[in-house]
Amino acid sequence: MSGRLQGRVAYVLGGGSEGPARDGESLPMGNGRAIALRLSAEGATVVVGDKSLDRATVTVEHLDGPGLAVEVDAADPDSCRAAVSTAIAHAGALDIVVCNVGISGREPLKVQSLEDWGIAGDVNVRSHWLTAQAALPTMLENARGAFVFVGSTAGIYSSRRSLSYEATKAAQLAVMRHVAVRYADRGVRANAVVLGNIDSALVRREFGAGGSDARAGVVPMGREGRPEEAAAAVAFLASDDAGYITGQSLVVDGGVSAAWPTPHR
Ligand SMILES: NC(=O)c1ccc[n+]([C@@H]2O[C@H](COP(=O)([O-])OP(=O)(O)OC[C@H]3O[C@@H](n4cnc5c(N)ncnc54)[C@H](O)[C@@H]3O)[C@@H](O)[C@H]2O)c1
Repeated sequence: MSGRLQGRVAYVLGGGSEGPARDGESLPMGNGRAIALRLSAEGATVVVGDKSLDRATVTVEHLDGPGLAVEVDAADPDSCRAAVSTAIAHAGALDIVVCNVGISGREPLKVQSLEDWGIAGDVNVRSHWLTAQAALPTMLENARGAFVFVGSTAGIYSSRRSLSYEATKAAQLAVMRHVAVRYADRGVRANAVVLGNIDSALVRREFGAGGSDARAGVVPMGREGRPEEAAAAVAFLASDDAGYITGQSLVVDGGVSAAWPTPHR
């Protein structure tokens, strides 16, 4: 693995993983954990924030280099800010911030509740802009920083499942574009990965590993993505290789959004 993130300090919000591991593996793998491992493998010091300190600690234990586990509740504004302060105090100024945490709802318009709408907004969008706001000052001081927001194709297309998820994932991309454009001339970049069907531990827990065949059936590549493939796209956007890229959404969906909507098989 190249050391293109050598000397960088990264913070991953939502870097634990919860749910069944893949067959033959013991470590549950979600996007947040895969991202933390990849940034570490490329040389970054990685601070892992998660509402479960245990899950964040497991991620840190598997890093290739230095790291720190931090307990943070994305639904709590003070906790979001405090986690960034802790990260900076212990690891140094943040060069890379990955806003990965996200929860999916199950309520279409007919039954969309205020409660679900509220928590989706708090976790999927508010925590992201609060985290970015807290990390921004040191990035501006150093004239160097990269934000990567972990988005979903649900922010661009409707899956008919969850109104709150689709709305908050769309809003998240607006936050990303605002950060990108507002600070483009100050050395700070912001981009998003827009993920399709990824075989994450959380998806296995919520939909079952058996659901993956149905999920893969709509993908031109004929399979779900791996969290490691999402992480590779995040690492690219976080690195200097993406130095002239800002305000963009990189779609990682195995070709779904390029296809005429027919089942693959
Ligand atoms: N898996 C997919 O198919 C898929 C598709 C599109 C987008 N995404 C996006 O990828 C991101 C990660 O999803 P994932 O399925 O890989 O999960 P993940 O495994 O990366 O994240 C789960 C982690 O988030 C933590 N978390 C949950 N609520 C939290 C809170 N309030 N505060 C702090 N931490 C909290 C959990 O403890 C868990 O460790 C989300 O933003 C999701 O919308 C996933």
